Amino acid sequence: MGDIEERKRDHISLCLDLGDEAEFAEKTTWFEHVELIHDALPELSWDEVSLEASLLGRRFSYPILIEGMTGGTREAYEINRSLAEAAEKLNIPMEVGSQRAGIENPSLAETYSIARKAAPRCFIIGNLSGVEIAAHGVAYAERAVEMIEADALAIHLNVLQEVIQPEGSKSFRGILRAIEVICDKLDVPVIVKEVGFGISREVAKRLAGAGVRAIDVAGAGGTNWAKIEGERVKGLNVVKARIAELYSEWGIPTAASILEVSEIRGLEVIASGGIRDGLQAAKAIALGACFVGMARPLLKPALKGPEYVENVIIRVAEELRIAMLLTGSKTIKDLRNCKYVLLGPLREWALQRVLKTNRGQR
Ligand SMILES: Cc1cc2nc3c(=O)[nH]c(=O)nc-3n(C[C@H](O)[C@H](O)[C@H](O)COP(=O)(O)O)c2cc1C
Repeated sequence: MGDIEERKRDHISLCLDLGDEAEFAEKTTWFEHVELIHDALPELSWDEVSLEASLLGRRFSYPILIEGMTGGTREAYEINRSLAEAAEKLNIPMEVGSQRAGIENPSLAETYSIARKAAPRCFIIGNLSGVEIAAHGVAYAERAVEMIEADALAIHLNVLQEVIQPEGSKSFRGILRAIEVICDKLDVPVIVKEVGFGISREVAKRLAGAGVRAIDVAGAGGTNWAKIEGERVKGLNVVKARIAELYSEWGIPTAASILEVSEIRGLEVIASGGIRDGLQAAKAIALGACFVGMARPLLKPALKGPEYVENVIIRVAEELRIAMLLTGSKTIKDLRNCKYVLLGPLREWALQRVLKTNRGQR
């Protein structure tokens, strides 16, 4: 088994075995510091509330994205098949995990392309890391898109994860330029994402300038790659284990990152990182996101079958519908304009960073 394949297997099994230990301990998403204003007189009925939402020019039944998790192993084949079947049935988008393994070893490509095979009409998003595209350029991105007939490509930025991995990259130069070239040359739109440490306003601005269409904040408070990579090196590499421990609470909480990135005009904002229920999803959208994304909560269900993935998505969607009713929001656009109050550290963050809140019409 190749190194990448083994790493992918470690990631899946650690995410499953660690349970909630795979998440931040002290740091949260900060959604608990957002209060949506209750509307006791919404003048709406349940069926009138529409969860339909747009992302990158396509219309979906729910504003929920299945985030990229895997590919490159036998297990990943089954996971991607389940996720894709659920996405196709529910008319929501899905992303595959980093496609490097499938590009470097074509015999593994089917562990990604099964998503397209299982979901011919689905909006499927490819995935590569910033480090890889800086090293290999546009041709690499084109191969990733071709492999799954992708409708968009997500490029993930994962500096902290790389510096903890013993085999990780130490070069983070040239990534912005590579993103710019790919945005220019690729036929499909480009999303840039983190993997769980958030994106700031300044980074979002540079990415928008490079031609990126959407940003997935993947903020802190959900799946924690410092902890997961720390677990991989425990007992094997004392120095890396210590770094993982030191940085296990690093990152911009998801709620703060949504406010940061929503400052930049013209960018579609996807909120992921610790979205676990529909009320958090509603808060994310009220803060400025147009879509939310979920990864780890869908991993175990995906191993059981697509109907288990569907159940999680439908539960979150129905919880979201209730928040919409309770805020008098008939559509996702209304929810994006609903009023809220920020409390505690999130209020402090917004003040110190001079972030616009309760923007009104967007
Ligand atoms: C098992 C697993 C594998 C992941 N692999 C990738 C990956 O290959 N590429 C990527 O961009 N993000 C990857 N992620 C990050 C997720 O896409 C997502 O941004 C992050 O986990 C935050 O969402 P969550 O808190 O709902 O898990 C992975 C997440 C999980 C749980």
